[in-house]
Amino acid sequence: MDRTGSGSPSEPPGPDVSGRAGALTFRRWHLVFVGLVIVVVAVSSLLLAQRVPAVPQPVEFNHQKHTEQLGLNCEFCHKYVTAGAHAGLPDVRTCSMCHSRRQGTSEEAARVTELIEQGDSLRFNKLFRLPDHVFYTHRRHVGIAELECQNCHGAIASTKRPPKRALVNVTMDFCMDCHREQGATLDCNACHR
Ligand code: HEC
Ligand code: HEC
Ligand code: HEC
Ligand code: HEC
Ligand code: HEC
Repeated sequence: MDRTGSGSPSEPPGPDVSGRAGALTFRRWHLVFVGLVIVVVAVSSLLLAQRVPAVPQPVEFNHQKHTEQLGLNCEFCHKYVTAGAHAGLPDVRTCSMCHSRRQGTSEEAARVTELIEQGDSLRFNKLFRLPDHVFYTHRRHVGIAELECQNCHGAIASTKRPPKRALVNVTMDFCMDCHREQGATLDCNACHR
């Protein structure tokens, strides 16, 4: 009876109370719904982040050992990096030059020799990848403009095992920012053919 007293006098007490209860349950369901959406979005983006970009490799290759310790230059394995559009990834023939015999003492190096003996092709998978509608060439950037690999690939030469995803997110803005800085082309048709 107290409640009816506190209600507005112009409205009948009954419907007023049930109206408030209705608004309350609606708000509660609304909150539950928003919560569910947040959970679904969080879980699926977590799954996506784990699934899509992880690039598998046949061997735990160690850039640091081969570049900084053994002094091999990039072109030794990425043969077309100054003259071609694609830099190219090494295959079993390059690795066999040294690993047809055992090198070093690590288990992974021993496994490389075993794989070679078994006739494995050691097919490495691309990490950095542009969509098909984008035109890009290493010749222009490395051969002619003499840009350091690190500009676009980050510190991959110092990695001790293959990165699961690209170390630099190469977006259109990434290309455009440097082109603007260096006075290179901003013409859509130069990159989209
Ligand atoms: C201006 C940016 C830029 C520079 C500088 C650059 N790269 Fe790249 N690189 C890329 C992009 C972008 C891709 C992906 C190309 C694609 O998917 O078509 C790539 C791909 C690669 C690949 C994968 C195989 C391929 O060619 O698709 C290798 C290996 C590579 N780069 C090595 C190098 C090395 C070694 C250097 C330095 C000597 C270098 N890159 C310098 C941007 C660059
Ligand atoms: C010029 C000779 C040479 C070439 C070419 C070469 N390697 Fe090696 N690699 C070595 C030597 C030497 C070691 C041992 C270094 C040490 O343990 O200090 C080694 C070590 C390794 C290891 C062990 C790394 C670690 O963390 O212990 C792996 C894996 C490996 N190489 C894979 C490859 C693959 C794959 C290729 C081809 C893409 C290749 N190597 C090409 C000489 C070479
Ligand atoms: C002995 C061979 C060897 C040498 C020397 C070497 N690489 Fe690589 N590189 C590889 C292999 C094998 C992979 C694939 C596995 C990995 O990512 O570690 C690779 C992958 C890469 C990629 C990723 C390309 C992609 O798939 O998108 C880049 C970028 C790269 N190397 C840059 C360099 C640079 C820069 C140097 C010189 C400082 C260098 N590499 C020297 C063997 C080599
Ligand atoms: C670190 C700086 C830098 C980055 C990053 C970069 N570029 Fe360039 N790009 C240059 C320079 C400098 C030139 C001019 C080279 C020359 O002298 O011919 C150039 C030239 C080009 C050309 C030739 C343009 C013409 O005149 O026909 C194309 C195409 C191109 N870049 C595409 C790309 C794409 C695609 C990306 C991103 C994946 C990219 N570039 C990222 C510096 C960069
Ligand atoms: C220097 C090279 C470069 C130039 C110039 C350039 N683009 Fe791009 N564009 C790219 C790259 C690289 C991608 C792919 C980005 C990715 O995969 O995230 C891209 C992607 C796109 C996409 C696909 C949507 C997206 O974001 O992936 C559209 C649309 C596009 N560009 C339109 C344009 C237009 C319009 C212009 C002219 C104003 C232009 N681009 C100029 C490099 C360039």
